[in-house]
Amino acid sequence: MGYEKFLRNNNILRGDFMDFRDLIIKKRDGKRLSEAEIDYFVKGTSVGTIPDYQISAMLMAIYLKGLDDEETAELTAAMTRSGKVLDLSGIRGIKVDKHSTGGVADTTTLILAPLTASLGLPVIKMCGRGLGHTGGTLDKLEAIPGMRVELEPEEAVRQVNKSGIAIMGQTAELAPADRVLYGLRDVTGTVESIPLIAASIMSKKLAAGADAIVLDVKWGSGAFMKSPEEAERLGEIMLEAGKRAGKNMAALITDMNQPLGNCIGNSLEVIEAVEILKGKADGDLKTLSLELGSRMLMMGGIVKDRRQGFELLNRNIANGRGLEKLEELIYIQGGDPDVLNDYGLFGRAACGLAVKAEKSGFVSETDTYNIGRASAVLGAGRLRKGDKIDYNAGIVMKKRLGEPVEKGEALAEVFASSGNKCQDGAEIIRNAVKIGKEPPKKKPLISREIIQDL
Ligand code: URA
Repeated sequence: MGYEKFLRNNNILRGDFMDFRDLIIKKRDGKRLSEAEIDYFVKGTSVGTIPDYQISAMLMAIYLKGLDDEETAELTAAMTRSGKVLDLSGIRGIKVDKHSTGGVADTTTLILAPLTASLGLPVIKMCGRGLGHTGGTLDKLEAIPGMRVELEPEEAVRQVNKSGIAIMGQTAELAPADRVLYGLRDVTGTVESIPLIAASIMSKKLAAGADAIVLDVKWGSGAFMKSPEEAERLGEIMLEAGKRAGKNMAALITDMNQPLGNCIGNSLEVIEAVEILKGKADGDLKTLSLELGSRMLMMGGIVKDRRQGFELLNRNIANGRGLEKLEELIYIQGGDPDVLNDYGLFGRAACGLAVKAEKSGFVSETDTYNIGRASAVLGAGRLRKGDKIDYNAGIVMKKRLGEPVEKGEALAEVFASSGNKCQDGAEIIRNAVKIGKEPPKKKPLISREIIQDL
């Protein structure tokens, strides 16, 4: 009774007291949860009245039995309501947000955010930490010495009005239920679920207050969705949630059957993004950053079509304005902008090791999930909740899908704080990169675009 009173005093109960075990059992047995039950689950999660072990059991039940479209919409709405919704009306212009469903060597934000901001798009971007085998922009930003990522919303709004850009962690007040669920999903094998991913991403995006949202929905061996069809379904559910909330939405369905860039690991990924902004590197990471960035510029009313978006983005790589904007962002958020010209300021991993090809042929398959896992084993990601990250650990891939390889040639180089970790990471990569007699059939980087204008 004391517990029930506590729940009532904290406005957690809308109806009668619920025994959370009953809700877990209901979902375990494949039954629908009512709106009130979903609300109870989300409120209890954000206020901390449901213990982690019961939340984890519910997450596993949802993972195994799913949620229908209505339950997913209710979960998204309840998670958005679990905290504040940012008021961005103080920022001039159309605010366009972007979110990726998660991948390996996916550093598009660090490229497209300063580039689009340098073209006049107001960029206020909240991002997350690594999840499962995938990296997170927040961890990458924290690899920059001194960089502050905890900004109060009012401070971020002032910063965007002055400098056009702010990138920060999700504040504790926004979708707090997702913070808890995200951390538990990461360590309970419950990440790869369409309704959980859709509700996680869309609750945060809706709470972050942008007018329009571009989604990068990934499929493949390094993505949470293993087929383009699953990715399309996830994209459609998220677009519908955004549309219901009055947002202009677009989604690209993109390939994650190999790491997007060549570097995996926090400071390594920042360096690769900087090289692209300096015009010194090309490849899929740059192409996708420009594709997503041009959609953001279109939705923000800055360009009329994709071609013009590409032109302006490329221009601001060539004239250095994108890099200058990143430098300004780092400076105003307390980081050391000298890292952009002196990569040694990131520090260095104690050990490095080349992963050599055991035979000649073509790179026929890259098990990108395991490459992401290898980066965590090396220290670049978390194996357990709360693990400390080694910002200088990671992998530099030397070969892409379809490229020819000679026996003994380096497939990748790994970096870590000890020789043992390097050996462990190298072993995973050796098994993850397959060499065959023929190059594989090339898959398009973008397989579909879904646009949902209001
Ligand atoms: N990104 C998120 O924010 N949530 C997910 O569940 C997956 C990717």
